[in-house]
Amino acid sequence: MNFRIVSALLTVLLLWSIQISTVEAVNLEQGKQIFNAICSSCHARGGNVIMGNKTLQKHVLEKYSMASTDAIVQQVTYGKNAMPAFEGRLSSEQIESVAAYVLEQAEQGWRKKR
Ligand code: HEC
Repeated sequence: MNFRIVSALLTVLLLWSIQISTVEAVNLEQGKQIFNAICSSCHARGGNVIMGNKTLQKHVLEKYSMASTDAIVQQVTYGKNAMPAFEGRLSSEQIESVAAYVLEQAEQGWRKKR
């Protein structure tokens, strides 16, 4: 009896975690595609060809309080100075995916090829 309950709970937990990791993988893959299609013209390999000091490297994002999904979503949505706004061009889901991808790459120093 107890064993049945425990194994049922474990099954639910297992399915739940598989689902979560699938969703994350999809978002990062989508974020990568959006980044390469739209952002990389200015931010190739996490750089910044227009404002050389505002790269997407982790320590730079931290310096300018940009090292969070919220901050990146805001800036991509509304733009800032020479960076265009993507509201209307990208859905909020797409913007969240690309923000997650930027943070993941910043964490890895923009070195890992995904
Ligand atoms: C036309 C060139 C251009 C494109 C395209 C562009 N950006 Fe930017 N980006 C900039 C510029 C310029 C800045 C610096 C803005 C400022 O602070 O004045 C910037 C800043 C940023 C920052 C903050 C960097 C920091 O160190 O403060 C993030 C994050 C960012 N961009 C993400 C993106 C993402 C994600 C995309 C694609 C959806 C994108 N950008 C597309 C030009 C661009």
